[in-house]
Amino acid sequence: MADNILDRFKENTEETIIDTSRKIRVGIIGTGWIAEAHLESYRHQPDVEIVAGADLVEGKAEAFFEKFGMKDVKCYRSHAQMLDDESLQLDAVSICTYNRTHAECAIYALKKGVNVLLEKPMCVTLEEAVEIRRAEKESGKVLSIGFQPRLDENMKMIKKIVESGKLGKVYYIQTGGGRRRGIPTPYGTTFIEDKTAGIGALGDIGCYSLDMVLNSVGYPKPLTVSGYKSAFFGTRPDYYPNHPEYAEKFEVDDFAAAFIRLEGDIILDFRIAWAMNMDTPGDTIILGTEGGLRIPSTECWNGSVGGEMVLYQEVCGQQTETKIPIIGGNENNFGDLFDKKIRSFIDAIKNHTPAPVPSSQIIYNQAIIDGIFRSAEAGHEIEITIPEC
Ligand SMILES: NC(=O)c1ccc[n+]([C@@H]2O[C@H](COP(=O)([O-])OP(=O)(O)OC[C@H]3O[C@@H](n4cnc5c(N)ncnc54)[C@H](O)[C@@H]3O)[C@@H](O)[C@H]2O)c1
Repeated sequence: MADNILDRFKENTEETIIDTSRKIRVGIIGTGWIAEAHLESYRHQPDVEIVAGADLVEGKAEAFFEKFGMKDVKCYRSHAQMLDDESLQLDAVSICTYNRTHAECAIYALKKGVNVLLEKPMCVTLEEAVEIRRAEKESGKVLSIGFQPRLDENMKMIKKIVESGKLGKVYYIQTGGGRRRGIPTPYGTTFIEDKTAGIGALGDIGCYSLDMVLNSVGYPKPLTVSGYKSAFFGTRPDYYPNHPEYAEKFEVDDFAAAFIRLEGDIILDFRIAWAMNMDTPGDTIILGTEGGLRIPSTECWNGSVGGEMVLYQEVCGQQTETKIPIIGGNENNFGDLFDKKIRSFIDAIKNHTPAPVPSSQIIYNQAIIDGIFRSAEAGHEIEITIPEC
């Protein structure tokens, strides 16, 4: 049959064939809210079996798996108990614990030779991030950080636009996000207490804004930061009509702002809010010598593009604005992005390929968060120094 020349331009739609001859054995550490999304996405993978789970709260892991009719999953009272049980022959773990235990769980798992999918933020301090990186390097295992918004086609478009050169040299970025009233306490206080969360809006949603823009410009190294943080809302008993006692437990930031210098002479202007007297602290904008990109924010910032982006350029002396329509719909929903996050992690393990969201990048994200925290405490600009790791 004659070759149809147009067929050569069609996308390859061949289905990927997944080798199911040996299933990847997975354990889930921390069986709270986000663990459900991990569990559901693992169950969508034909080459994965969930064999174990652990939670510090007595009976919580058992109840979690029972809810999904998974009575055969072995349950433990801590990450260490689970990882010490060699009979499980774990290939991988998802770490879905609150921020404060991210580092100890990740380091323990990597030292046991187990691949790790670690929820965002990577951890609480830069020091912890360095220790995690060292354990990862020594282990030779895959460590991926849970930033699923990166897999959204609209987020990928931001990076494509920057990489296409349409913006020229990027010199200024404004990013962040916020909620008018959105401190995450529907399931208790693990996000607002220092002993569990360690960092508030900065770590919970600030890390998404940072990843969105830093990933698009190639994750330049942060050099200096002048940071501010406050907690004017979370500490008010009337903020929580049903739980005024939460106010006393609130020990993290509900607002943060910073001015950060990045390698490559890029200025990053950042603000993030769990609560504020405003609808949004502004869109994300990326300014370059040849063009500018506006990325609309959302009412409940969680790392998704809020509407069509606009590319501002000058064409033969005319000032132009090109609207970039939102790509797709359902394929960018939370569940599908989570499936992609889990699939890309499993593929990296099976194919011995790099982590989909590498710690070599996210350590800069963590260094900025840590820097904002330290600069705010010190009351002046500080230099960011990242130890060799
Ligand atoms: N990627 C996303 O979209 C997304 C969404 C929500 C939360 N998160 C992140 O996921 C993490 C967990 O959030 P959550 O809402 O599920 O919290 P959560 O408080 O509901 O659950 C955390 C669970 O971890 C358990 N735990 C803590 N340390 C442990 C240890 N050493 N061993 C075993 N269990 C341990 C706790 O007992 C608790 O049940 C946070 O870091 C958060 O930032 C990510």
